[in-house]
Amino acid sequence: MPEVFHNTKNELEKGVLDPIHPFKFFTVGTHFENEIDLRSVVLRSLDKNLNFYFFTDSRSGKVFHLRKNSEISLHFYHDIERVQVRVKGVAEIHQRDDLTTEFWSKIPEESKKSYNSISSPGSIISSPSLAYEWRKELDDAYFTVIKVEPLTIEVLQLNGVEHIRALFVKNDREWEMNWLAP
Ligand SMILES: Cc1cc2nc3c(=O)[nH]c(=O)nc-3n(C[C@H](O)[C@H](O)[C@H](O)COP(=O)(O)O)c2cc1C
Repeated sequence: MPEVFHNTKNELEKGVLDPIHPFKFFTVGTHFENEIDLRSVVLRSLDKNLNFYFFTDSRSGKVFHLRKNSEISLHFYHDIERVQVRVKGVAEIHQRDDLTTEFWSKIPEESKKSYNSISSPGSIISSPSLAYEWRKELDDAYFTVIKVEPLTIEVLQLNGVEHIRALFVKNDREWEMNWLAP
């Protein structure tokens, strides 16, 4: 597999570990019926098969979308290298299972509040202060891990010197690669 594949994987792994790496945050696209939605999330993990993981609340709009349609797109942008990574894949929703239990056990107590708001994410509230009301028990009832299995990964670098566009397609467990015209 050419260098561009390994470089991309390395940078994505750095995104998991380094809080100021440009790949720490990425955009998630979902669609259901005639609605397309995009939002930023935090890259929490990347496994050896290049599955991506992020955390969310089971009451959120994105989980509603993904329950109806598991097709998902991810967009990463490295502003210094001017590299864009686009991933198309399938999302698996995990709640109250071995995977969520493992991630939940590593979340600092204070951060558990993010998944324990009294008001459901996206619901209308009469005052912004209501955003700071948490359930007494900070449990993992709403904590959700989205695992994204990538089917294609496209990397584009447009840095003014070298223009590279490559498409990786997963065929069973193997990645096949083609160069594309930028
Ligand atoms: C910097 C930043 C990081 C975010 N990280 C997450 C995240 O990891 N998980 C998440 O569910 N929402 C995260 N959000 C909030 C989402 O962008 C979004 O507003 C929220 O999840 C509701 O989206 P939905 O209604 O499409 O589900 C983040 C927002 C920002 C600005």
